[in-house]
Amino acid sequence: MKNNKMNVLDNNVMMEIRGLSKEFSRNGERLQALLEIDLDVVEGEFLCLVGPSGCGKTTFLRIVQGLIEKSAGSIELYGKPITQPSADRGFVFQQDNLYPWRTVIANARLGLELAGMGTDQANARANEMLKLVGLEGFEQSYPRELSGGMRQRVNLARALTIDPKVLLMDEPFAALDAITREAMQTELLRIWREAGKTVMFVTHQIDEAVYLANRVVVMAPRPGRIEKIVTITKTTDRSEDAKRSQEFHQAVDEIRDIIESHDREDIMAN
Ligand SMILES: Nc1ncnc2c1ncn2[C@@H]1O[C@H](COP(=O)(O)OP(=O)(O)OP(=O)(O)O)[C@@H](O)[C@H]1O
Ligand SMILES: [Mg+2]
Repeated sequence: MKNNKMNVLDNNVMMEIRGLSKEFSRNGERLQALLEIDLDVVEGEFLCLVGPSGCGKTTFLRIVQGLIEKSAGSIELYGKPITQPSADRGFVFQQDNLYPWRTVIANARLGLELAGMGTDQANARANEMLKLVGLEGFEQSYPRELSGGMRQRVNLARALTIDPKVLLMDEPFAALDAITREAMQTELLRIWREAGKTVMFVTHQIDEAVYLANRVVVMAPRPGRIEKIVTITKTTDRSEDAKRSQEFHQAVDEIRDIIESHDREDIMAN
């Protein structure tokens, strides 16, 4: 379980996390949300985080984003400590946070505007990203005219315009219906390949994690910690057919067993 580090000789580690802990205090009580997380994130990988509600997935991603301070340990991106949000990390969360009064393109270029880029240049870049996420032709639409899946594509385009090194995604497809979710998964893989980004993706759905990830970080609650890291061998090139393969079901079962063993402990403890 301690061996959460990748082989540095074979892989280019971009983010190094050591002994990362987070304690909240609530109503005078202390809550250990994360305990001694050790993790190396490798350039270009698709890393999924799964685990029961309350195991600290969002807290972890928020620390990576630089929005929440850690209590102990270290987290470095290319050798520099993460202390605040920055353009090297883009994020997409469950609820799309588009401005309803802005058009699709005006929403997509927001990060560039904030970075001080001129409108023409920002529009050109935003257009390119809207094309990448499959929203060509919708540039002048308003969020209310889009489906949930399309709104999440705008969010994704916005996150990509700033050309982040790593994309942080917290249950981005959770609010979508099953069919749209599957379509978005396939699209995200295509975008990940084309854009060449590193992705850290939180999900409740084990099959989603196994379908998307190179590695699945399985977390356990109270205190939030890494239980196991499962490497997903991709025999095929992640086609939809892969979901029917034996390897796919074996990986899903393995992860489910780990998570359910904690549910059983909880039931027995109560
Ligand atoms: N700002 C905060 N103040 C106090 N406690 C917090 C705060 N944020 C999170 N927590 C607690 O930390 C723990 C981890 O929360 P977190 O939201 O990271 O879990 P999660 O794994 O993302 O859960 P879910 O799957 O439901 O989204 C929970 O017990 C939560 O109540
Ligand atoms: Mg969460």
